Amino acid sequence: MIEKTTNLSGIIDARNAVSARFRAIGAAVAALRRGELVAMPTETVYGLAANAADPRAVGGIFVAKGRPRFNPLIMHVPTVAAAQKIGVFSEAAEKLAAAFWPGPLTMVVPLRDGAPVSELATAGLATVGIRIPSHPVAAALLTAFGGPLAAPSANRSGHVSATTAQHVAADLGEAVSVILDAGPAQVGVESTIVSMAGEPTLLRAGGIPREAIEAVLGQPLARAGSSPDAPMAPGMLTSHYAPSAAIRLDATSVQPGEALLAFGSPLPPGHENAAAVFNLSPSGDLAEAATVFFSALRTLDGAAPVIAVMPVPAEGLGEAINDRLQRAAAPRPPAASAS
Ligand code: TXA
Ligand code: MG
Repeated sequence: MIEKTTNLSGIIDARNAVSARFRAIGAAVAALRRGELVAMPTETVYGLAANAADPRAVGGIFVAKGRPRFNPLIMHVPTVAAAQKIGVFSEAAEKLAAAFWPGPLTMVVPLRDGAPVSELATAGLATVGIRIPSHPVAAALLTAFGGPLAAPSANRSGHVSATTAQHVAADLGEAVSVILDAGPAQVGVESTIVSMAGEPTLLRAGGIPREAIEAVLGQPLARAGSSPDAPMAPGMLTSHYAPSAAIRLDATSVQPGEALLAFGSPLPPGHENAAAVFNLSPSGDLAEAATVFFSALRTLDGAAPVIAVMPVPAEGLGEAINDRLQRAAAPRPPAASAS
């Protein structure tokens, strides 16, 4: 009954004919109702989704990811009305919702009393992270399911985020009942997370540039942890998004045997002898670079023990790319507790 277009078991192609997409969504909804996990394409990265109201299902996310510690998860909903059922929105938060939803923005707001989400999903906090993805398959799944889905990125804890169905299968395999394959994620880095539970604060750089959010708010965003009042994202651990290879940032030359993660041109001296080269964007386009960023890390990983990385400008989507690069380069704890 279910159309499989790849030989990776459990992957369902959700791109094709409308009827095939309905069947794929139907199978995913049935799995979610049974408390199972579904990999859902979003415009940022693939998410590992579970029924947010079912603590057993949410617990399954932590087990599948090998996440050693409970970290609050982002609640995905299809509409602003559904978001209002789980969070309390200030006027400024409503402005951001109007400007950027659906899209790659997560807002942390006060948790509404009686919200239909398990305490495990919010890690017992008085706030909740909410987002409305713009991806049509995510939107269809959320509408058909009819309740919030808790979904972290669909990768093993501390690994590089998954931007294709094949990455999800490689990382999580059997733990996922259904993988909805909608091709490569368009944005390529996770959502921008802003706390609107107090002073507007940037918790994680991501798919929407900080500057665009500040323009709508009419004020700068505080930096996470910059003052006792500025909140932190519990999941923003230093080592994260880590490939197996070591990462050498701001490379102005390539040492023999290193792989090169390039941005723009010309390439630095020594590139001719690199073990492998991946150029994020030969023309220096940051949005294009974000789209292929995690795939590039996966591709170069294994090609060499060290990946030399050319500098990437820090403006626009470059802030999110540099944030991921710094975490990938950070010293690794023995057991990563990242998301
Ligand atoms: O693009 C995305 O945001 C992807 C897709 C699947 O939607 N999801 C994602 O989720 O990146 P995850 O779990 O990998 O990252 C969620 C981050 C964590 O760092 C967590 O600490 C933070 O959001 N977070 C969630 N709820 C929070 C809250 N109430 N207060 C502060 N931080 C929160
Ligand atoms: Mg993650």
